[in-house]
Amino acid sequence: MMSVSLNINGRDRSVNVDGADTLLDVLREQVGLLGTKEGCVEGECGACTVLIDGAPVDSCIYAAAAAGGRQVTTIEGLARPGDYSPIQQAFIDGGGVQCGFCTPGFIVTLTALLRRNPDPSRDEINNALSGNICRCTGYSQIIEAALLVAAAATSTPTPAGAVAQ
Ligand code: FES
Ligand code: FES
Repeated sequence: MMSVSLNINGRDRSVNVDGADTLLDVLREQVGLLGTKEGCVEGECGACTVLIDGAPVDSCIYAAAAAGGRQVTTIEGLARPGDYSPIQQAFIDGGGVQCGFCTPGFIVTLTALLRRNPDPSRDEINNALSGNICRCTGYSQIIEAALLVAAAATSTPTPAGAVAQ
């Protein structure tokens, strides 16, 4: 076992891990953050997606020891009941959440995309989501939610008193 210090959702933590422990194991079993889901455990479905220093990774295939000294953000670091981010609200409003198992991974992945590119194209959204699988929605509501957030972020408010043409 070795002690690893990392920052999870803005809080410094010290955890004891062995070489076989994944970051997903640590988050769910030691830290008790259950929003990050355990799906395929093979890096294929994206249910376990978290941000490491702002970039999305599959925590099921990321060695916990490698997270030492890094900033880890889970869905709990993005979600606040009653204070949802634009992409979270768009999922809720647009039917992007059905069973919800995949949702944390999609939200984390799209949050990273929208931070680095506030106005992604449909193709860029599709590419960003290529590692996230949803068995319920057919993806269209999820992609539309991301496009809606992009459109809202880049729309120019009409100046007060101006008349729309
Ligand atoms: S559980 Fe990690 S990619 Fe599926
Ligand atoms: S909402 Fe059920 S797997 Fe995506």
